[in-house]
Amino acid sequence: MNPLFIVIEGLDGSGKTTQIDMLRDRLQGMGQACHLTAEPTELPTGKLIRSILQHEIEADPRTVAALFAADRIEHLHHPTEGMLHQLAEGYHVIASRYYFSSLAYQSEFADPGWIASLNMLAKRTLPADITFFLDLEPAISMERIEARGAATELFETQEKLAHVRESFHLAFEHFGDGENIHIIDASTDPVSISEAIWSVIEDHTAD
Ligand code: TYD
Repeated sequence: MNPLFIVIEGLDGSGKTTQIDMLRDRLQGMGQACHLTAEPTELPTGKLIRSILQHEIEADPRTVAALFAADRIEHLHHPTEGMLHQLAEGYHVIASRYYFSSLAYQSEFADPGWIASLNMLAKRTLPADITFFLDLEPAISMERIEARGAATELFETQEKLAHVRESFHLAFEHFGDGENIHIIDASTDPVSISEAIWSVIEDHTAD
């Protein structure tokens, strides 16, 4: 199997982490090497973003949008942690979030056209082989976030999640041309969701 670049998008609480772990286990079980990664990254750009999301420091929403785009460039090109490097080394790269998250989350605060242009470089450099969107009613997403008991981050209120969900769908429509995007019902149990994801990957690799 050629190294695949798979992106998992979804609302907060949609089960991305569980699905990413299950997918990694499945691929590794077949002897395939995987590199798991996420945005915001663990690089300095990503750490700065996390401090803003956790209300430790304040920044203009347009600065946040620009920081996400900058973090994404690091995520692509970093000499050791970068996704381009990992793919070149033969790893499947599974990323939690990529540029559709920026279109979905930042478009409430800044011009969507400007956000799209900030992210065009990433789209041209490395579009995902497959993007999965774990789709979930915001009310369920909120329940799961609350059950997790973690401090509420900047984007985690039900009203905001509803807006973000709609924005994701719009982003796939307007910024998803030429891409392989699959909307997955994330309200079912983890095993069924994982099977739905796996059948798409099987179809893709059978081509
Ligand atoms: P993440 O760690 O994936 O949160 P969770 O595990 O709760 O889903 O992402 C942190 C937050 O960053 C999340 O609320 C979404 C937000 N985000 C953006 O606003 N824009 C972006 O481009 C990305 C990648 C994430």
